Amino acid sequence: MTHRLTLPLALALALSAGAASAADGAKTFQLQCKTCHGAKSSPAGPSLAGVAGRKIAGLTDFTYSAGLKAKSGTWTDANLDGYLAGPMKFAPGTRMATGVANPADRAAVVAYLKTLK
Ligand code: HEC
Repeated sequence: MTHRLTLPLALALALSAGAASAADGAKTFQLQCKTCHGAKSSPAGPSLAGVAGRKIAGLTDFTYSAGLKAKSGTWTDANLDGYLAGPMKFAPGTRMATGVANPADRAAVVAYLKTLK
C-alpha cells in the first residue's frame, strides 16, 4: 500500500534537488573558489569559464603545475568530481589544494561549473 505514495514522493524530491543544485553550487563557488578563479585567469588560478569539456590544464594564459599538465583528457563530470574530491590524489603535484569533501556539495559545484560559459 505505502509504496504507491512513497515512489512519486521520492521522485518529486529527487527532481527538486536536481533543479536546486546549480544554484547551491553557485553559493559554494562564491565562498570557496572565487578568490582564486575569476572571469579571467590570474596568477592565483585559471579562468573556469567554459571549463566543462575543456582539455585538462588546457589554457595558454595560465602556467599550470607539472602535476596537472601530466593528466590527459578533458574535464568531464567524472574528472571534475574526482579532482574536487581529492585534488592531490587526482593530480599529484597540483597547485590547488582546495576540494569539496561533501559529495552532494561537490555535485552542486560541478553542476554550477557547467553553467560557466
Ligand atoms: C587558493 C586558490 C584556489 C582556490 C580557493 C580554488 N582553486 Fe581551483 N585552481 C587553482 C590553481 C592554482 C589551479 C591550477 C592548478 C595546477 O596547475 O596544478 C586550479 C585549477 C582548477 C581547475 C582546473 C582548471 C583547468 O583549466 O584545467 C578546476 C576545475 C578548479 N580549479 C576548480 C576549483 C573549484 C570548483 C574551487 C572551489 C571549490 C577551486 N578550484 C578553488 C587555485 C584555486
